[in-house]
Amino acid sequence: MTRHAAIVGIGSYLPERRLTNTDLEAMVDTSDEWIVTRTGISERRLAGPDEATSDLGVVAARRALESAAIGPRSIDLLVVGTSSPDHIFPSTAALMQDKLGLACAAFDVMAACTSFIHALYTAASAIESGRATRALVVGADALTRHVDFTDRGTCVLFGDGAGAVVLEASDTPGVESIVLGTDGSGADLLKIPAGGSALPATEERCREGLQFVQMNGNEVFKFAVRAIPAATTQALAASGHAVAELVWLVPHQANQRIIATVADRLGMPEERVFSNVATTGNTSAASIPLALDDLYTSGRLAPNDLLALVGFGAGLTWGAAIVRWVLPTPIRED
Ligand SMILES: CC(C)(COP(=O)(O)OP(=O)(O)OC[C@H]1O[C@@H](n2cnc3c(N)ncnc32)[C@H](O)[C@@H]1OP(=O)(O)O)[C@@H](O)C(=O)NCCC(=O)NCCS
Repeated sequence: MTRHAAIVGIGSYLPERRLTNTDLEAMVDTSDEWIVTRTGISERRLAGPDEATSDLGVVAARRALESAAIGPRSIDLLVVGTSSPDHIFPSTAALMQDKLGLACAAFDVMAACTSFIHALYTAASAIESGRATRALVVGADALTRHVDFTDRGTCVLFGDGAGAVVLEASDTPGVESIVLGTDGSGADLLKIPAGGSALPATEERCREGLQFVQMNGNEVFKFAVRAIPAATTQALAASGHAVAELVWLVPHQANQRIIATVADRLGMPEERVFSNVATTGNTSAASIPLALDDLYTSGRLAPNDLLALVGFGAGLTWGAAIVRWVLPTPIRED
């Protein structure tokens, strides 16, 4: 019998502090109207001074374990997708393993905003091959720590957060297909130049702001509206499904105009393309599991729904997963 990987638990976390467009108006030369029209974002959350990426990830992971009704000791793999790790090393996954009380291998994967899809690919492959049975897959980022809050071109876009899923071996799919892609020739379009081995963060480089996110917004926009439909189509073909069978497309939450353009290009009604970017901003690796958890907890996912989870980001990287939802719709109290 073929061994599959299915999502059997989900959780997410947004830090408390809200940064609204009105707050940003007081910081840089921008307006609520410009930000909403160009990005669809109204507010985003900021990690507190004592909250690092691992802390955001731990809350989301605990919630995912609770939703799967399993204890930390039955997890046999932790994969954390992030591009704002607590430190260069130890990995954020190692810190989370300790904080969560797990007894398993734990490592990070880094593919900028596509990190969660890469983490899902890694964990699903481990389960399908029989090397793991229950994996915790986390997307967590405190990317605002790397944002220059005097640069209006980038500071309005990003927010912090975390999302997590528990993946378990199953006789029925689950994660039906995953495709990944990379085009390193686009590396300069979106980058944090300093702080790595190429340009250690010296005082002079920090004065120039090279430790912050730099982006060619127009080119990244054009890439995103090409990459998402292409990756979705490729993953659908790999799983033998058509766009019309998708109940939800859950794209990386970067910009409402990207999401609307993608819906149009794929021929999907906008109401089946999930968006919560208005209240989260771009939370990088966290955005897809956060969006999925929003869909789930708001009662809009039912067992057997077919979903496409699709990411893109720096690298350039992209990835898409076709997922058969198995969790029952939660009973809501309101
Ligand atoms: C960044 C982005 C919102 C900019 O929107 P845009 O419509 O392309 O705007 P432009 O960059 O062409 O800038 C238009 C003007 O607005 C100005 N502007 C930029 N940011 C501004 C802000 N926050 N407030 C007000 N004006 C702003 C620009 O300086 C420019 O002014 P100019 O015409 O006088 O030169 C858009 O390109 C985008 O979302 N790109 C994708 C980014 C992304 O998803 N990154 C993460 C990937 S994981």
